[in-house]
Amino acid sequence: MHKVILISGSPRKDGNSMGALQVAAEVLRSEGLETEIITLAGMNIGCCLACPRCSFNDGGHCIIEDGANEIYAKIEQADGLILAAPVYFGTARGAMMNFIQRLGMCSNRHGRFLEGMVGGPIAVARRGGHTMALSEMLMFCYICGMTVCGSHYWNMLFGMNKGEALHDEEGVSTVRLFARRVADTISKTRG
Ligand SMILES: Cc1cc2nc3c(=O)[nH]c(=O)nc-3n(C[C@H](O)[C@H](O)[C@H](O)COP(=O)(O)O)c2cc1C
Repeated sequence: MHKVILISGSPRKDGNSMGALQVAAEVLRSEGLETEIITLAGMNIGCCLACPRCSFNDGGHCIIEDGANEIYAKIEQADGLILAAPVYFGTARGAMMNFIQRLGMCSNRHGRFLEGMVGGPIAVARRGGHTMALSEMLMFCYICGMTVCGSHYWNMLFGMNKGEALHDEEGVSTVRLFARRVADTISKTRG
């Protein structure tokens, strides 16, 4: 069965990023895919040290032992990857960027395992900065060779307090269509 990993870059376990991912996961499961949502909440995700030990370690592992390697191993086995982050000061929260920058290095050093993986980013914010945060995460997706899916709008939801973003009907419908396209593209491209 095809599998999609969904990463929440919020420090709130049950915040708006998680809510958006639950919407996406529900659609993916209804299309017959397996899903696993992983939150970075409670983790202290370090940034890439440019050591560059991932070039030499077995399996392209990162030298930083903060729990990210275990998640990278799951991503390597998956067919899809969806990233959801809150906007902080007009950009994606740092933990998400730390996480994906090290993931990109590990992928590059380990057979470019992200190549052809299907998915894309989602950004949540109270009012502004979604497009910058989406752009930051998209730069990662594209350079890693991922197949990014679109929707009828950009994957952005508006909301501040926990759960508020799920009242953004257009945002939720955008995420639903995005998830359907991820499922469809996986079935066409991942054998
Ligand atoms: C440090 C910090 C910075 C923020 N910066 C922005 C911002 O630039 N633009 C905005 O619209 N909302 C901003 N917010 C609000 C969050 O993006 C918003 O509450 C979002 O829904 C949080 O998502 P989460 O529940 O997944 O953590 C900020 C919140 C925090 C804590």
